[in-house]
Amino acid sequence: MKPRDHNDRRPRVGLAYGPGLTEFIGAHPGWVDYIEIPFEQLRHAPALGALRDTAPLILHCASLSVAGFVPPSPGTVAAVADHARITGTPWIGEHLAFIAADPVADEPTAPSTTLSYTVCPQMSEQTVERVAENLAALRSRLPVPLILENSPQYFAVPGSTMDMSTFIAAVVERCDVDLLLDLSHFLITALNTGADPLREIDRLPLERVVEVHLSGLNRQSGVVWDDHANPAPELLFELLERVMQRAQPQALTLEYNWSAHFPWPVLRDHIDRARTLLHSA
Ligand SMILES: [Fe+2]
Repeated sequence: MKPRDHNDRRPRVGLAYGPGLTEFIGAHPGWVDYIEIPFEQLRHAPALGALRDTAPLILHCASLSVAGFVPPSPGTVAAVADHARITGTPWIGEHLAFIAADPVADEPTAPSTTLSYTVCPQMSEQTVERVAENLAALRSRLPVPLILENSPQYFAVPGSTMDMSTFIAAVVERCDVDLLLDLSHFLITALNTGADPLREIDRLPLERVVEVHLSGLNRQSGVVWDDHANPAPELLFELLERVMQRAQPQALTLEYNWSAHFPWPVLRDHIDRARTLLHSA
């Protein structure tokens, strides 16, 4: 594949950082437009910043707890800002999730609990307001825009007054924020909540999508889970085609970063298919 021209403004296709990535890029010049790298990995292994010599970097993040009531420490926010400058990322993709939670009520001196970005927040007006306050506090401290990634939903979240699509639309309207649409998270949510994904996708504010994520899924004990070691199923490409009827994303990241043995023929095929869909819109 021909190396990309700097003046080419068409949407880019990148890969999430993981085992085997540099070998794949080395063997496939011109196939990968950028590498998406988690802030948390860069913070603990700053030498990974040298990947910038291999491909442009986009910074991903799971530390800002934008839908939570426990704010990130000033040191963490400053470190995210530093890595945004060092990587030259055009934006920071952060999860619409809470990463830390208050200690339980009868143990007020206990430390806050650290969770994973995969825990969907309570979807309510109160959380929408909380996201607005958190974003207002963060935006002035970061050198590039934050865009928000939809969480996967694995169970009915207590206290929720909205479904996921309504919640995302409410956050976008209240906060005037762009989206990182994780299509796999979206499909997981639809399947786990009994919604029709091909109808549900039209309820999202797709005009605000700046970046798309694609990965695989698997089903265990009746629940559909995120799986970055598996290829995206056919339905996700169908959904991507629907998304492209309304959205103009600037980037699509294939998140196949949980396995060092992800098959290269599948990777090549999915890069090719994603690029064709992005460029044909
Ligand atoms: Fe994602």
